[in-house]
Amino acid sequence: MSTALVTGASDGIGLQFCRILADRGYDLILVARRKDKLDDIGKNLTAAKGITCTVISADLSKPQAAQKLFQATQKKNLQVDLLINNAGLLHNGLFTELDLGAQENMIRVNMLALTSLTHLFANDMAGRGGGHILNLASLAAWTPIPSQNVYAATKAYVLSFTQALHNELKAAGTGVVVTALCPGYTATKMMDNPDQGGKLMIPDGLMQSAEEVARQGINACLAGKPTLIPGFSNRMTAWMTRLFSKMTLARIAGSFYRKNMRQYPQIRG
Ligand SMILES: NC(=O)c1ccc[n+]([C@@H]2O[C@H](COP(=O)([O-])OP(=O)(O)OC[C@H]3O[C@@H](n4cnc5c(N)ncnc54)[C@H](OP(=O)(O)O)[C@@H]3O)[C@@H](O)[C@H]2O)c1
Repeated sequence: MSTALVTGASDGIGLQFCRILADRGYDLILVARRKDKLDDIGKNLTAAKGITCTVISADLSKPQAAQKLFQATQKKNLQVDLLINNAGLLHNGLFTELDLGAQENMIRVNMLALTSLTHLFANDMAGRGGGHILNLASLAAWTPIPSQNVYAATKAYVLSFTQALHNELKAAGTGVVVTALCPGYTATKMMDNPDQGGKLMIPDGLMQSAEEVARQGINACLAGKPTLIPGFSNRMTAWMTRLFSKMTLARIAGSFYRKNMRQYPQIRG
């Protein structure tokens, strides 16, 4: 039986990854901060699907969080065949007005923890001759986005890092596949939370379901693809970014976000 470790397993796209993998018979290692929620999810999936769930509560913004998580799996003799670096944070608003500590945490979770976990588990997988890693980037990775500038930059990092590493691991014959998943707007609490995507007025028609995003991500990773953008309109959007300079894209995205931001009347128009 294969084992998958999912970060951000307590909600949103991460929870859907867990449900889909449980359906496919994977044992799961569930990681997030809210232990009670993970315990409930684990119990339900074990009862419904007969799989083994291990809960590891971790705050991935803390120093050495990735190293401690890796060591915890080693101590429990858990071998990870599929790592999904899904945990992520978003903060919308004027860079200078957003809390600096919150933005630093976003950088630590979205980039640092993801990079360290990829390093630790890719080495382990390469030693065993293979494995899969799915890293959550975003459609935001393809464009500089005013009012979401740190978030978009963290996702641009994840995309670039993952695509380069995909090639490197393949060329080295490690058997390890690493894939970047780039969802567009996806219906999760990240898009409802008033401190996060809830600041944006995004029509429901533009939202994909978390289940569909998760399913396409898993399938792409297991099929050995370097990158997956779920949804035709999202793929078209990413393709169109090739036609413009980065500063033109920043002007277009900045205008869209200023018009669609609920809570910053001073930057409208
Ligand atoms: N929703 C979208 O429109 C969208 C679009 C593109 C990309 N994405 C990316 O997809 C991923 C999942 O997003 P989502 O929409 O599913 O988000 P979500 O609903 O807000 O869920 C985020 C998950 O990350 C966990 N998490 C947050 N901070 C953490 C920390 N410091 N340490 C450990 N776990 C932490 C949360 O659990 P706890 O609170 O229990 O820790 C939760 O399980 C993110 O990387 C996001 O950037 C989302």
